[in-house]
Amino acid sequence: MVTTAPLRVPPGPAGAGRYGNRLAYERDPLGFLLDQRQYGDLVRFADDLYLVNSPHLAETVLKHTNTAYTISRDLLGEETDGGRASEDLAHWMRARSLAGRGLNRSSLRAAGDRLASTAVRHAEAWNARGRIDAVPALEELSAELIAEFCLGPETGRVPDLVARLQDARLPGALPVPARWSPRRRRLHRVGRDLAAEVSRLILRRGRTRGEDSPAVIADLLVTACDEGALTHEGAVSIVVANLFAAHETTAAALAWLFLLLDQHPQVQRQVLAEAGRELDGGSRLPTAADLPRLAVTEGVVKETLRLYPPLWFLERAVDQPTELAGYPLRPGQRVAVSPFVLHRDPRHYDRPTEFRPDRWIDRPADHALPKYAFMPFGGGPRTCLGARFATIAMIVTAAALTSRYRLTRAPGSPPVFGTRSILQPEGLTLDVTTREELAVAPGRGGPAATGTG
Ligand code: HEM
Repeated sequence: MVTTAPLRVPPGPAGAGRYGNRLAYERDPLGFLLDQRQYGDLVRFADDLYLVNSPHLAETVLKHTNTAYTISRDLLGEETDGGRASEDLAHWMRARSLAGRGLNRSSLRAAGDRLASTAVRHAEAWNARGRIDAVPALEELSAELIAEFCLGPETGRVPDLVARLQDARLPGALPVPARWSPRRRRLHRVGRDLAAEVSRLILRRGRTRGEDSPAVIADLLVTACDEGALTHEGAVSIVVANLFAAHETTAAALAWLFLLLDQHPQVQRQVLAEAGRELDGGSRLPTAADLPRLAVTEGVVKETLRLYPPLWFLERAVDQPTELAGYPLRPGQRVAVSPFVLHRDPRHYDRPTEFRPDRWIDRPADHALPKYAFMPFGGGPRTCLGARFATIAMIVTAAALTSRYRLTRAPGSPPVFGTRSILQPEGLTLDVTTREELAVAPGRGGPAATGTG
């Protein structure tokens, strides 16, 4: 009689059958994932889904994406009309590298100089309203920041269309969306309009480039098109992909950041004091040149991304038979890496659930984190293309807005964890008060403009 050895599988929670622990997971995804650490560095979450719990294994999976593993979902966890999903891999990787060149130091510096004034313009409108729904308001701001970065100061209807594309997305809770559903048709329609508007702006940029406006990603793409390295449609799809990848993630991160600053007045005082020191008493808008001196604000940004990484669950499909931590993996199985779980690992972070931006400031070399213990932007060949831009945008926005406004969680608006595809504080409402108003009426609360906390 021939017997076959049972397939070795990693440990995991009971009930990891075909449907695994889906129900427990759906009830409390973040709590469920954190709980899985008890089973070790590789956990069998369900028959076809494993979860990685160590920086080293996360690195292995992400580094071998495009070879042993493939990206199994698009950027925002569902099918998009952003053009990227239908690109073939080689084409996408070529396009990615072209766009990546646009994210070089000098274009980032130029962008950094413009970001603050855009942020302040939005905040003035918020202040006129007095109260904002944090996530949608920050999505509008982020859409404009990224549109300007890609396309220059003339962004036409792009920010508006990006916001509408967002609205038209299907709720993740629904099973496979019906192709003919009205929402899906709307998604396609808005996607088409967005691509057409981006196309118009890129063509226009091709005509006016270099005349009176700063260099942006579109210029690089226009050059690549002129040289025959890229088609016009390819250029449009890169810009659309960036717009789509950028605005919801950046907005979620900023919403967490302002919530955390409100919850930690002492840290807010430090950010305020830093802006006072480095930005002429807070009267000057931050530019890219100020970045090296905004260490406290940078610490706040990193700590926010550690505690609340917007893309909290990255998934890969096994493409070729391989092994991980000594366990065999077969094509079709999926492996998940959760930045949220890795960022709260007590093996790497002292008091991991606490908001402590100072852990990032003057960090001694012997306290270096293992690679991939901090990975809000993923890693490997499909790492976030906009990581540096996003970090700069967050530092500049946080410094510019904190020095001018106090954003306070409105009474009775406890945010809930939104975990559909982006981790975001759903329902967060913020009251917006200028620092001048606070100085006149200090009873309205908020840290004073001086002091180091
Ligand atoms: C705080 C803000 C952001 C966060 C947390 C974030 C996070 C991420 C992560 C984790 C990935 C990898 C996804 C995976 O491995 O499956 C990713 C991919 C990507 N991000 Fe970002 N991102 C942010 C902002 C941006 C911005 C501002 C841009 C554009 C300027 C951008 C462009 C992209 C693109 C194009 C990809 C796809 C790369 C590919 O598949 O080859 N992201 N992002």
